[in-house]
Amino acid sequence: MTDLDIPAASGAARLFCPFPADFLWGAATAAYQVEGAWDEDGRTPSVWDTFSRRSGAIAFDQNGDVATDHYHRYKEDVALMKRLGLQSYRFSVSWSRIFPDAGGVPNPKGLDFYKRLVDELRAADIQPWMTLFHWDLPQWTEDRFGGWESRDCARVFADYAGYMAAQLGDRLSGVFTINEFMCFLDKGYVDTGELFAPGKNVCPRLLNQARHHAVYGHGLAVQAIRASGPQDLKVGLAENIPNIVPILETPEHIAATREALRELSGMYLTPIFEGRYHPGYLESAGADAPVFTDDEMAAIASPIDFVGLNLYAPTYVRHDPSTARGWSTVENGPGYPKMDMPWLAVGPSIMYWGPRMVAETWNAPEIYITENGCANPDRPNASNEIQDVGRVMYLQEHLIHLHRAADEGYPVKGYFVWSLMDNFEWAFGYTKRFGICYVNYETLERTPKLSAEFYSGVIRRNAVGG
Ligand code: NOJ
Repeated sequence: MTDLDIPAASGAARLFCPFPADFLWGAATAAYQVEGAWDEDGRTPSVWDTFSRRSGAIAFDQNGDVATDHYHRYKEDVALMKRLGLQSYRFSVSWSRIFPDAGGVPNPKGLDFYKRLVDELRAADIQPWMTLFHWDLPQWTEDRFGGWESRDCARVFADYAGYMAAQLGDRLSGVFTINEFMCFLDKGYVDTGELFAPGKNVCPRLLNQARHHAVYGHGLAVQAIRASGPQDLKVGLAENIPNIVPILETPEHIAATREALRELSGMYLTPIFEGRYHPGYLESAGADAPVFTDDEMAAIASPIDFVGLNLYAPTYVRHDPSTARGWSTVENGPGYPKMDMPWLAVGPSIMYWGPRMVAETWNAPEIYITENGCANPDRPNASNEIQDVGRVMYLQEHLIHLHRAADEGYPVKGYFVWSLMDNFEWAFGYTKRFGICYVNYETLERTPKLSAEFYSGVIRRNAVGG
């Protein structure tokens, strides 16, 4: 492979961004997006299986029945990761493979898949990082008690988390409880145009209550993992914080950005770190605010070892004395650059401001970038190469800003690119490609793109530039 970074320039203008020696480089996927094998070895449907069968819910009525067939091709995929030089792999578990029904009896065949996957990774010297919940809630929880609308969902989630920690904990490098609260709650329980499973449209009170049950489920899961897993197993979560960036780098805008982060995360990360909902959130919810107890709030704030940040697109913030809270967000102007997703505006400094603001605001012990990447309308050329120059540019610029965060001493410990390969992009089905490896959906063949070659070079040198 050739190195694709910008060639070394001479003198002070040289681009060279070395990362800390123990920095961890990896890639991420999620069960429903890659596994397929939707009804094999005892797996029962998740809300995404049900939702994707609803006519018109997904682009071209596609679904995850086959996805990229990772369930059967995991050995090939681990070999691919090895060839690319990945040091870690973040995957998620399909909960309904493990607990196929409400009876609470685990399914050994479901567990066996993850044991084999983890063993394969470890044999290849790739660290396994496991996400317990990446949106594919078992359908039986919906049928039985209305999913996250019920406190029971938090309890069964904790049982599942404890079980997985006991079974697999000693072979894992880290566990994420929940991935991106906002997406499965705010997009799954309210129809704002881009609807996700379970595809409901509930009133604000129920949405707030479901949000509360989900953060409570996270807290109970942390406790269950600590109780059942090995003492040294790292526990955290992966959250898509609003990717706040000060509109200009001045002390007032930076202070305003910190406040914006706390308030915009008021129902998710703020209670997890502070043990209470942000007053601005409770005030705006009014009579629709969630009902909770002090014990639940204490559980939500159970200490975590690290926080994972999924960083994609910026939200610019300014100091604004004309508002009561002292800040406002700034719209991206016309012509602002975007990648191939309606929401994917490009703002590489999210990689600096995200970790910095989270570290300064909550004194987060360790931060991992658990997702970052972009969709690009990739097509193989006549030589079957995929020249995803746009993604190479996106990754390079983002990594330069991540380097700034590490260089200034913020505790960024690792980076997982989204995604290892093209996959099922939720409501967009297979029409959006986020992978550094191209998937031919006719043959399911994987082909590393130019961005995979770029990323391999970064990992090999532990640096951007050279
Ligand atoms: C974040 C989600 O965790 C992942 O599932 C999704 O594919 C990416 N964003 C891209 O939209």
